[in-house]
Amino acid sequence: VAAPAATGLPFTPIAPVDASVDSFVVPEGYTWAPLIRWGDPVLAGAPVFDIVAQSPAAQAAQFGYNNDYIDIIVDAGGLTGVLVANHEYVNPDIMFAPSSDPAELRRRSEIYKAAQGMSVVEVVRDAPGAPWRTVPGGRRNRRFTVDSPFALTGPAAGSELVRTAADPEGRTVLGTLGNCAGGTTPWGTVLSGEENFNGYFSSPATTPSRARYGFRQRPTSTGWETWDKRFNGAEPGYENEEHRFGYIVEVDPLDPASTPVKHTALGRFKHEGANVSIAEDGRVVAYMGDDERGDYLYKFVSKHRVNTGSGPGARKQNLKLLSEGDLFVARFTGDSPASEIDGSGRLPQDGRFDGTGEWIALTRKGESAVPGMSVEQVLVHTRLAADLVGATKMDRCEDVEPHPTTGRVYIACTNNSRRGIDAPVDEANPRLSNRDGHVIELVESEGQGGTRFAWSILLLCGDPSGAALTYFAGFPPAMVSPISCPDNVAFDAEGNLWISTDGAPSTIRKNDGLFKVPLEGPDRGRVQQFLSVPRDAETCGPIIRVEDGMVLVAVQHPGEDGSFAAPNSLFPDYGASGAGTARAPRPSVVQVWRA
Ligand code: FEO
Ligand code: CA
Ligand code: CA
Ligand code: CA
Repeated sequence: VAAPAATGLPFTPIAPVDASVDSFVVPEGYTWAPLIRWGDPVLAGAPVFDIVAQSPAAQAAQFGYNNDYIDIIVDAGGLTGVLVANHEYVNPDIMFAPSSDPAELRRRSEIYKAAQGMSVVEVVRDAPGAPWRTVPGGRRNRRFTVDSPFALTGPAAGSELVRTAADPEGRTVLGTLGNCAGGTTPWGTVLSGEENFNGYFSSPATTPSRARYGFRQRPTSTGWETWDKRFNGAEPGYENEEHRFGYIVEVDPLDPASTPVKHTALGRFKHEGANVSIAEDGRVVAYMGDDERGDYLYKFVSKHRVNTGSGPGARKQNLKLLSEGDLFVARFTGDSPASEIDGSGRLPQDGRFDGTGEWIALTRKGESAVPGMSVEQVLVHTRLAADLVGATKMDRCEDVEPHPTTGRVYIACTNNSRRGIDAPVDEANPRLSNRDGHVIELVESEGQGGTRFAWSILLLCGDPSGAALTYFAGFPPAMVSPISCPDNVAFDAEGNLWISTDGAPSTIRKNDGLFKVPLEGPDRGRVQQFLSVPRDAETCGPIIRVEDGMVLVAVQHPGEDGSFAAPNSLFPDYGASGAGTARAPRPSVVQVWRA
C-alpha cells in the first residue's frame, strides 16, 4: 500500500553548485531517482542497456539520447499515463570508445540515427504523488527515429520546395532532427521544435537561404552525408531534403497508430519549441522562438476555432488546427530614449526596460503577406521573409510560453555573445554581449489573437554578487539565487514561473539548474533555486506538479565535455553502465518528490 502523497512543493533554496561537481542536488526533504535513462527498454523485445553492446536495432527499441522536452499525459484515473520525450542530438565522444575503423564508424552512424527523435513510454504509479515507473513494451510505446515517416501538412506540403527524388510528392519526410523544447496542446498532443537541423547536412552555401540557415559543406559529426544521399546537399535530386526539417512536429501519444506530422504553416527556422493557448475567440495561438543570435520571435494564429467537445470527432478536428492559419513575427519598440540604453543593464530613467510592439503578418488568410515571396517561400525560407519586414533581432529566444491563467507570455532570451556586434543594444535586448540572458514578459493588448502587445523585462539574469548588473522585477538582488542562461520555462498550478537553465557553467561557473520565480505579490521576481544538475548537463523539461509534490526534469548531455576514457560525469547511476565495467553518463528523465 502506497504512502499518502505529499502535496505542495515547499522548499528552502539550495546553494548553487560549483561547475566542477558531478552530482544531482535537490532541496532538503526531497529525494530523486531516474525514471528512464538513455538505453532503457521502450519497445517489446528491447535488450537491457549495455554500453559496450550497442547496436542500431537495440537503440531503435530503447530510450534515445539527450532528452530535452518531456511531459507526462496522465490518463483518467490518475495512475497511468504516457511519458513523451524528445532526443535532441548525440555526443559520440562519450557514447563510444574512440575508433578509426570505417566499418565501425558506419555502424555507429546508424546508431546515431536511432538515438535521436522522440520516445513515447507508458508509465504507472501506485498513487497520485508516488513515483512513476515505466512500462517497457507498453501498448502505446513508440520510438521515432531519423528514419520514421512524418507527414508534412500546411501550405508548403507538396510544393516544389519540398519534393525530392525519394519523395516526388513532397508529403512524407523520414525522421525528425534537433528536437529541443516543446509544448503539450489542449487536445493532448505534444509539439516539438526542430532546432539545429542544419548541422546534420553537408550542403554548399550556394543560395541566400542556405547561407542564412547556416548550411555548410563539411564533414558532420554523424557522418550521414557519406552514405545517405539525403544529407548531402550536393546530391542531385536531394537539394530540397533540408527544406523538410526545421518545423514544429506534432505527435499524438494517445493513438499508437497515428503518423506524426510536421506543420509548415508554423514556418521553418531553428524552432526552439511551441506552446499553444486558446484565444478569447476560440482560435489557437502558438508562440515560438528561433534560437539563433539575432533571430526572431514568432506566433501562429489558427484559422479555425478549437472544438471543445470531448468525443473523437472533436479531437480529430483539433488535430488539424495547426495546419491552417497565419504566421506573425514580432517587432519590439522601447519607450525610453535610445541614449538611456547604455548596454550595461542600467535601468533607464522610467525604471523599466519596457515598451510596446506589434505582430507583423508573414502570411494572411493563408496567402503570403510578404511582397515578392510566395506563401510556400515564406513558410520554407521564413527567416528571409522575416528579414524583409523589420522584425526585431532578439538575444536567442528559447522557450516561449503563455501563462495558463493570466495569458501573459514569458520569453526566455538565453544569451547573445554578439549583441552589440551584429546588432546594437535596444530596450528589449539591452545588454552588450549579453552573457547571462534575460526573460521578457509580454502582455497581448488586443487578446491572444491580436497584433499589438506591451512588454517589459522581468529578469536580467546573472550572479548579483558579480560585476554584471542584474534585475529581478524589482526584488532585492542580494536575496535571489544566481541564475544564468534561461532556456525552458514552465508554470505550476499556483501560477509561479519555473525556469531551467543551459550554460551557467561557462558564465557564472555554477552547474545548471531549475529555479522557481513567483510572479505576483511581494515575492515577484524572487528567484529560488530548486535543483542542480550534474557536471556539463543542461536542465530541460521541466514538469512541475504541485498537486503531486513532484517535479520532473530531463537531464541532457551530462559529462558532455569529458571523454569515453575519462568521463566527466557518471550520472545517474554513478557506477558501471551495463553488463561490463565500462562507465559513462546517461542522459535521463529524473523525478524529484517529497521524501
Ligand atoms: Fe536546444 Fe535552443 O536549445
Ligand atoms: Ca522604459
Ligand atoms: Ca533549449
Ligand atoms: Ca539552449
